[in-house]
Amino acid sequence: MILVEYPTAAELFAAVAKRMVRDLQTSLDSSATASLAVPGGSTPGPMFEKLQSADLAWDRITVMLGDERWVPLDSPRSNTGLIKAKLLQGKAAAAKYQPLYNGAETASLGAVQLAKDVDAILPLSVAVLGMGADMHTASIFPGAPERAAAQAPDAPAVVSMTPGDGLEDRVTLSARALLSAENIHVVILGDDKKAALAQAQSSPISQAPIAQFLPKAHVHWAPKES
Ligand code: 6PG
Repeated sequence: MILVEYPTAAELFAAVAKRMVRDLQTSLDSSATASLAVPGGSTPGPMFEKLQSADLAWDRITVMLGDERWVPLDSPRSNTGLIKAKLLQGKAAAAKYQPLYNGAETASLGAVQLAKDVDAILPLSVAVLGMGADMHTASIFPGAPERAAAQAPDAPAVVSMTPGDGLEDRVTLSARALLSAENIHVVILGDDKKAALAQAQSSPISQAPIAQFLPKAHVHWAPKES
């Protein structure tokens, strides 16, 4: 794991966006297409705003989320709204978007077709991951019944998840799909997540799903602005 600490979140977002552009350009230099998986959540919005104006052949890039809530794409609970508003704008509006929702009645039914759709796109060029204070990443939650299935080396590319606690079901890229990425960047803000990262480094992946990605990841941390 490589840990990079920044004095401010603004500097982190600028640096990671620049690094993502470089990684995507490297992929485009050697292949016809490139692919990018990004997190939802409250952290990455400003980074997406920086990325959208990058001078890349966006029409050769597929963008997808690392996880999605099983709600229609126009629901305020869908992470797709964030991607459309903050990332697929400006130059990046030319990118192809692979939704992780297909209208199936349940997440587990929908995940079967989505796994095929995403498998056709793998390997990823770049995967950006967030992390919760409970050490989940994407929607691989430590306590979820499907956690081990999502971490299996032969997991389908997309797995459904029941996070519990009254939250809606989700689908997540599996660890296999995320680990296919040539470049993995973990983006976290604040002291609580720094403590969670330290804990994850000495925890099994059953308790700390993020730990499965750390050996291959660049982790970017900055203090949280109040
Ligand atoms: C999501 C995620 C998830 C997220 C973390 C951190 O859509 O919720 O992909 O893994 O990155 O929960 O969320 P915050 O950035 O809101 O702290």
